Amino acid sequence: MAQRKDARHLRLGVNIDHVATIRNARGGRHPDPLRAAHLAIAAGADGITAHLREDRRHISDEDIARLKGELTRPLNFEMAATQEMLGIALRHVPHACCLVPEKREERTTEGGLDVVGGHNHLAPFVQRLQGAGIRVSLFIEPESAAIDASVKLGADIVELHTGLYCEKALENDAPSVAVQIRRLETAARAAAAAGLEVHAGHGLTFNTVGAVARISEVVELNIGHFLIGEAIFGGLQPAIMHMRALMDQARSVDRLTA
Ligand code: PXP
Repeated sequence: MAQRKDARHLRLGVNIDHVATIRNARGGRHPDPLRAAHLAIAAGADGITAHLREDRRHISDEDIARLKGELTRPLNFEMAATQEMLGIALRHVPHACCLVPEKREERTTEGGLDVVGGHNHLAPFVQRLQGAGIRVSLFIEPESAAIDASVKLGADIVELHTGLYCEKALENDAPSVAVQIRRLETAARAAAAAGLEVHAGHGLTFNTVGAVARISEVVELNIGHFLIGEAIFGGLQPAIMHMRALMDQARSVDRLTA
């Protein structure tokens, strides 16, 4: 069967936070996250993601200013819903803001936003950001209640948390992996049907990206830690090019069997 052309290219957002983690381990300016961002784009990234944490453990305020000033592709600014971060977002006006939960003691973003219980807190952030022309994404668990709440909040995008799926894949727990993929598929379908743009990410690797890339409602993946780790062994550009190829391959296999 001939391969049908799909206008909906699966975008890759490369998260460069951990280039900054390595830089900050010694202070100074090396390795430079902006240089990584330029290389990522040259290797096929469609956008760059950076998370400015309250404790500034990796990305700095200056990194955000430089990224916004120099990037040739969209900047997806990950932030907690705080007044400080809102002020920074409104000053730089990135292409998109992804609202994420943030706890000081966590090593990475654990779990999705509480969009159900947090409606009243989150609603003004969504409105202020959108009022400035910024697209708003909510990082949520792949659950119907979270999707309904994201619709109520008027978000443009939901980013589905793939962490649990990746955790089960790491444990080689095949039945649980299948459950988590079904959960992501169901959520992606429901979110798209409700008019939300669907992204996904967290913990994705060469081994786990394919099953998520095959979900046709997903239009963007955001991937960071694994790519920066792989860059140690084979270089950043080859790692991104290989990830890009795996994503494209998953989509084309899906089209062939559709
Ligand atoms: N998406 C969101 C909302 C995140 O918070 C993160 C981690 O910063 C990622 C994607 C990327 O996750 P990872 O670094 O594990 O690829």
